[in-house]
Amino acid sequence: MINEKRSSFSGKIGFVLAAAGSAVGLGNIWRFPYLAAKYGGGIFLLTYLILAITFGFALMTAEIALGRKTGLSVVGAFSKLNRKFSFLGYLAALVPAIILPYYSVIGGWVTKYLVAFSTGSGVAAAGETYFTDFIGAAGEPVGWFLIYIGLTALVVLFGVEKGIEKVSKIMMPVLVVLSVIVAIYGLTIPGAIDGVKYYITPDFTKFSATTVLAAMGQLFYSMSLAMGIMITYGSYMKKDVNLESSVKQIEYFDTGIAFIAGLMIIPATYAFSGGAPEALGKGPSLMFATLPKVFETMAGGQIIGTLFFLLVLFAALTSSISLMETVVSIVCDKLHWNRKIACAAVFMFCVVMGLLSCLGYSAWSAVTVIGMQMLDFFDFITNSVMMPIVAFFTCIFVGYVIKPQAIIDEVELTGKFKKKALFNVVIKYFAPICILAILISSVLDAYIGIF
Ligand code: PFF
Repeated sequence: MINEKRSSFSGKIGFVLAAAGSAVGLGNIWRFPYLAAKYGGGIFLLTYLILAITFGFALMTAEIALGRKTGLSVVGAFSKLNRKFSFLGYLAALVPAIILPYYSVIGGWVTKYLVAFSTGSGVAAAGETYFTDFIGAAGEPVGWFLIYIGLTALVVLFGVEKGIEKVSKIMMPVLVVLSVIVAIYGLTIPGAIDGVKYYITPDFTKFSATTVLAAMGQLFYSMSLAMGIMITYGSYMKKDVNLESSVKQIEYFDTGIAFIAGLMIIPATYAFSGGAPEALGKGPSLMFATLPKVFETMAGGQIIGTLFFLLVLFAALTSSISLMETVVSIVCDKLHWNRKIACAAVFMFCVVMGLLSCLGYSAWSAVTVIGMQMLDFFDFITNSVMMPIVAFFTCIFVGYVIKPQAIIDEVELTGKFKKKALFNVVIKYFAPICILAILISSVLDAYIGIF
């Protein structure tokens, strides 16, 4: 079953940039700033940081080590180590297969906005009904979705080193530079500094168990955990690359960009709305309705808007590439198809599934599942139900079935595992308990929301 010529990243930089590319995505740009503003600013940042260096660190280390140890994609990795856990590999594989199509629909919207801003239609994009008119028409969003998923498939087709690594090495540094430019520019707007204070000053009255749950949910999403991605990328990591320090660097990248995204968005939106945080909006409305209005009021807003949507496109592309690669590698490993055929099959599958989400705002808006539109339903079922289940069983698998020592041995191939004690405690006790809490709370939340 093991492919003798399994591809690999060329070295540490290639691996870290590709994995950071997967982690840094739409989640960092529209989800993190919104959650930070909602859950008490600085106190949310602090909670998130503590969870990132404990919980996030342990889970990411475990996933990358599982991939590198087995040299297989997620389905093969679990079953190779214990046949009874094959179900976990299949469950984890379903997550990127469900996320990729709807993520690409949103990627299509980003592409459309980039083109609108760069061709001088930024003012139109700031119009009150521009966004709802755009997604409410059946044809255009489908076209942008096809362009976006086509671009993603093209990179995956070129393979691990010549496609994914190459693109990440260009896009990730550009993304960092653009984020810093847009953030600094936003901070020069009159009134923005109050927004910075609002963003980073801890409001202890807003701290509760929900803050921790929200931060933890965001951590999964942001670090691309519990969906087989890090296992797949780990399987392409060379044995002489230091795993522990790679994980740390990916975390710095992901958390750093999330923080800068907050600086790009919160102060400018805060100043624009005259200090009314409720005006921030969330998800699509923040990025596609509020922000264009903010850009419109800025001097040079057309350019800043273009740079912003370019960086969002780069962040989204490197993430959807990792989602697609995870599915393609399973098809290659399991069915022994070559990369070209596997890519074509996954592409076709995504087109069909993506249409469900895309047309959910127009022709098929009457189709809902448990009261949600298709895109929202796919987002809910993966992030709030499947990912916590996969993460919980991954902890049980590592903590009690193969035992933490199996991971520790893999990490120690390149020297001492400095955070070994922390890893042990988190994976066996802290993480499984917290994950159960997230699962219960998110399902209850939806349940209460429905009834
Ligand atoms: N980590 C990426 C992001 O934050 O956007 C990729 C991703 C993870 C996308 C989880 C979607 C998802 F549900």
